[in-house]
Amino acid sequence: MANEIRTNDQFIVEGLGGKKILSGRVRVGGAKNAIIKILAAPVLFHDGFAISNVPEIEDVHQMIRLLEELGGQVEKLEPGHYKLKSDELNSFMLASDLSKRLRASVVLTGPLLARFGEVRFPHPGGCVIGKRPIDMFLDGFQRMGAKITEEEGLYVVKAGDGKLKGAEIFFKIQSVTNTETFMMAAVLAEGKTILKNCALEPEIVSLGEFLIKCGAKIKGLGTPTLEIEGGELLSGEGQEYVTVPDRIEAGSFLVLGAIAASDLIVENCRPDHLDALIDILRSAGVDVEVGDTWVRVKNTEPNKKFTSIDIKTHEYPGFPTDLQAPLSIFLTQAEGQSFIFETIFEGRLNYLEALNRLGAKTKILDAHRAIIDGPTALTGHEIESPDLRAGLAYLLAAIIASGQSVVHNVKYIDRGYEQIEKRLQAIGVKIERRAGNKDNLCLS
Ligand code: EPU
Repeated sequence: MANEIRTNDQFIVEGLGGKKILSGRVRVGGAKNAIIKILAAPVLFHDGFAISNVPEIEDVHQMIRLLEELGGQVEKLEPGHYKLKSDELNSFMLASDLSKRLRASVVLTGPLLARFGEVRFPHPGGCVIGKRPIDMFLDGFQRMGAKITEEEGLYVVKAGDGKLKGAEIFFKIQSVTNTETFMMAAVLAEGKTILKNCALEPEIVSLGEFLIKCGAKIKGLGTPTLEIEGGELLSGEGQEYVTVPDRIEAGSFLVLGAIAASDLIVENCRPDHLDALIDILRSAGVDVEVGDTWVRVKNTEPNKKFTSIDIKTHEYPGFPTDLQAPLSIFLTQAEGQSFIFETIFEGRLNYLEALNRLGAKTKILDAHRAIIDGPTALTGHEIESPDLRAGLAYLLAAIIASGQSVVHNVKYIDRGYEQIEKRLQAIGVKIERRAGNKDNLCLS
């Protein structure tokens, strides 16, 4: 499968100098944060299943590698289409260097513990965007009757009597990966599990719906309380998981449309997953039209001023933290002072400082709050992506700036957006990829 070492490419962007001239259609891929959890689900199956609309991105390839290390078999039928087989799964060790760096590897812990009665794993990675602890995972496993020790830098979690027990778990914070991990663990646990204060993100619902199709007994999907009746290994005979469209990618394109397009249609998306962003854009004066599987942004009056707006990130259906950085580029173009309140992660505003070198007026007030004064004309610059979403934000900034920009650390953008430069070129962006030297990748 994919190599752990990525080429550290750069994007060279000739900016539009504030002109809103991009146009056409841009297609949204399958959701990263949905498919990487589905890649943990084979642990719950005695056979396997097919997956499609899979984005060919770095995080997916690494998760596939992890699954293979556990004895899972992965066959690529064609790009975006795979067959997963789990009958030869034989390991409950997530010891590789990869799981240390891939935060999403933590979702494998619940299913592995439920299937084998034991799981061993390192503290999962997740750099740059805050502390990202795993205390809620460890608490939840204990509630399900497991004992936790540490050996040679690994957590060793063992189910009492070799079998995880159904339990009632209240999540002190709505957490996406906790909800997914315990929903999956409960599918194979003994008896009933009740999960309270669950996260409601569409990717969780999509995972749950697929598990139900394959025999899992889960009630309450899309609500804060899930009730799961544990049972035997699931069967995926004849089943195919079609990856739900990526709402963060769709949202990033909508922001691009607002600041740089005359007329842009973002297609193959779920507009109902984008309510929070669409509401913000409309309140700021953006012309947004919503269809069944597409959203259109138009700038018929090129000199129309957008108004500043205050945003607060929130669990779904609120405004997603993963769109906070892309939206900040819009805010640099809006008239007046905008206020950002990042409630989910501390340290997810640091990317703002570098934007000031391009001419933006941003100020970080503390680990969770910042202000942006606009509008400001941006000028092309060399800029280094610190992580996936901030990297995408820098790319948006480079597209609207005047002159040339070099965006370094494209490896982070590649983690979440498949062949983004090709899709951007097709709507008029002047962007080229320059191959860089080799580097290690930190995956969150
Ligand atoms: N938290 C704890 N203890 C835990 C787990 C989480 O205190 O044991 C806290 C976190 O520190 C954070 C809050 O709970 O303050 C919520 O974090 P959550 O667990 O929901 O985040 P996550 O599951 O680690 C997923 C996405 C992130 C996305 C967040 C919030 C995946 C693989 N990652 O992370 O996506 O930002 O939910 O929606 O699904 C991205 O795609 O760029 C990305 C970072």
